[in-house]
Amino acid sequence: MSSIKAPRGVRDILPEESWKWAHVFDVTRQVARDFGYREVHLPIFEYTELFSRGVGETTDVVEKEMYTFTDRGGRSITLRPELSASMVRSYLEHGMSRQQQPVKLWSAGPMFRYERPQKGRYRQFWQLDFEAIGSQDPYVDVEVIDLSLEIFRRLGLKGLEVKINSVGCPVCRPLYRDVLRDFLKPNLEKLCPSCRDRYDRNPLRIIDCKNPECKAVTENAPRTIDYLCEECSEHFVGVESGLRVLGADFSVDNRLVRGLDYYTKTAYEILSGDLGAQNAVCGGGRYDNLAESIGGKHTPGVGFAAGVERIVLSMEQQGSDFGLQPKTDVYIASAGEEARERALKILHELRNLCISSDMDYQDRSLKAQFKAANNMGAEYVCVIGEDELKSGMVTLKNMNSGDQQTLTLEEGLDILKRAELSRKSR
Ligand code: HAM
Repeated sequence: MSSIKAPRGVRDILPEESWKWAHVFDVTRQVARDFGYREVHLPIFEYTELFSRGVGETTDVVEKEMYTFTDRGGRSITLRPELSASMVRSYLEHGMSRQQQPVKLWSAGPMFRYERPQKGRYRQFWQLDFEAIGSQDPYVDVEVIDLSLEIFRRLGLKGLEVKINSVGCPVCRPLYRDVLRDFLKPNLEKLCPSCRDRYDRNPLRIIDCKNPECKAVTENAPRTIDYLCEECSEHFVGVESGLRVLGADFSVDNRLVRGLDYYTKTAYEILSGDLGAQNAVCGGGRYDNLAESIGGKHTPGVGFAAGVERIVLSMEQQGSDFGLQPKTDVYIASAGEEARERALKILHELRNLCISSDMDYQDRSLKAQFKAANNMGAEYVCVIGEDELKSGMVTLKNMNSGDQQTLTLEEGLDILKRAELSRKSR
């Protein structure tokens, strides 16, 4: 019988990688605090309707990519493909409109999309998601873009490209759709089958299709920003000027329409040159009608999500600094049953003092225990052999310098505490 493997498109994040993720989360948490966003943990599955109504029936995500099943109670349930719809659902469900607006929330966790797996694209992937709900101010859009850039700046990511666009609103988009359909009509048969299908239902998506033939057809397609209503146009000017105030490096990309139907006004993406085809590390925008589409009252909102796997991949490619890899600092080596008992007690004391420490559980020889300590990268080995048992002392070996001294337990703990303090201040 062959052994069971993880399903296609999902990954185990093992210790060799997970500490890098922890660094990304630590930095994100700090940035969230500095920008006034509070953390929430939302369910991994929701009623399917939340996404079909919120994200949009005609999107690839809803049409082709959702993990949907019927639960034992006969309800249709979907593993969340994204977080914005859940965030807005939670805002409405908990009456957050009564709080000071905008309500600024963030969350991190796994999302699920049945996509074709490739580098940087998985069926279970993690997002860092930030949402500011309850304000139309273009400066909130600016804040959200700035926040995403601040995370990447603190992570040391370089060479990022920020692209923004405005996709209009239900007032101006119908006119744009008509103009776009008229433009595309003479070349309809040159489009890929998916785009031909999109022509009636969702023609905007045709302009960000990656197929070379579709790209050629849409080369000189009319631009959304030329057909914005006054409100959307003013809003876009506000976002652009806010970004200029911050000195942000960005470009307007008329092809950027994003794959989720809830977007209104601002759409943006941040691309990394180090990722190949799946080069978007972050995407977001405004969704002023999302709350209404899931049955709430009109509530404007804006946010973004960044893919954790893609962030870590680009950081690895760029040789970025992930901080210090956590390791065991002190190893207690002991010989004999009585010494092991003492080792267990000292280990307990060290851990009470928040000093990372470990001991042998494999009945190894003293020599093999030193080797194990070395493999763990321990800075000190505390030895309890026959002599130490008799004298009630401990021998402390500094593994970097090779210095070794025999001390009382109090003296030993003192050295280890000081070493720990200096490590933490580094
Ligand atoms: P999205 O563009 O679908 O937007 O996803 C955001 C980011 O998640 C992408 O830029 C990418 O880094 C990552 N990502 C998406 N799909 C995958 C995948 N299959 N494998 C690995 N990483 C992936 C949204 O999800 C919106 N909810 C963002 C948003 C928040 N808009 C407003 N607020």
